[in-house]
Amino acid sequence: MVMLVQDTSRLKEDILRLKKEKDVVILAHNYQIPDIQDIADFTGDSLGLSRQAGKVDQKTILFCGVHFMAETAAIISPHKKVLVPDLDAGCSLSDSITLDELKNWKNQHRGAITVGYVNTTAEIKSELDYCCTSSNAVKIVNAIPEDKEILFLPDMFLGSYVAKMTGRKNMYIWAGECHVHAGITPDDITTKLDSMKDAEFVIHPECSCTTPMLYDLASGSFDDRRVSILSTEGMLTHVKDSKAKNFVVATETGILYRMRKENPDKTFVPASEKAECQYMKMNSLEKVYDSIIEDKYEITVSKKIADKARLAIDRMLTIS
Ligand code: 13P
Ligand code: SF4
Repeated sequence: MVMLVQDTSRLKEDILRLKKEKDVVILAHNYQIPDIQDIADFTGDSLGLSRQAGKVDQKTILFCGVHFMAETAAIISPHKKVLVPDLDAGCSLSDSITLDELKNWKNQHRGAITVGYVNTTAEIKSELDYCCTSSNAVKIVNAIPEDKEILFLPDMFLGSYVAKMTGRKNMYIWAGECHVHAGITPDDITTKLDSMKDAEFVIHPECSCTTPMLYDLASGSFDDRRVSILSTEGMLTHVKDSKAKNFVVATETGILYRMRKENPDKTFVPASEKAECQYMKMNSLEKVYDSIIEDKYEITVSKKIADKARLAIDRMLTIS
């Protein structure tokens, strides 16, 4: 269905009015479509949104992101109602480990500390010692005594990045991946960087090109240009502060909207135009509107699971 511009702006006005009337705060991830970012109260990365979920005054949080993010908000704010516009907005990375797989893995490494990326279900979080996000994973691992074995899950690229940055040898990494970031290949990067000789390069640690890139960096292959491995919010801060004018951006393409809006004098090119998360893009203005009007779809986490999972999230929030 093609929406007319005036329909879109009327819908946005209605949403803005309704969220005040019904005491709803809208939190949106950096990968959401531009129209949703426009009506959100806060747009940010996983860590920033988790923090907001714990701070906001409104009695309802409408989470525009994917399922595990809304669950995290429900765990952090158990007395608030948490809604999502589409229940099918999942995550291939969070699907890459099951509760049984994690329990078996823990049984094989008794005494190891489990560190899990925020991209996991509430059930998985309830089995973790620490939660982490792309912006604090290195800090969390560094906070764990060196003699302790670590089980890091579920993203293997983030895991290899963290192992390399911390020099940790006793860290086991689960072989999970996000299909969007894993799909950004070293070839995509080389092609884009070759076409923009003066561009800085910002890369998300979930990307499959992170690992070869770290070796290239270590060997001096990128001495002539700046390469930074950052979370989505870290990227936004970095490109604002940088003196460079051109950037190649390796993550989900939704981030380009904020980058371009906040830095109109700079040029941003995606490392891969195909890097689009179909789950993040399931949310639409119409679904946001329906969500507020009909109070749907509510995300709940049982008290037993939430209380255990909150420990891992709180440990993360204290360290980062
Ligand atoms: P961050 O926003 O925390 O960098 O995470 C990216 C991501 O893939 C979320 O699904
Ligand atoms: Fe999950 Fe990847 Fe989509 Fe992020 S981009 S929500 S990690 S599938």
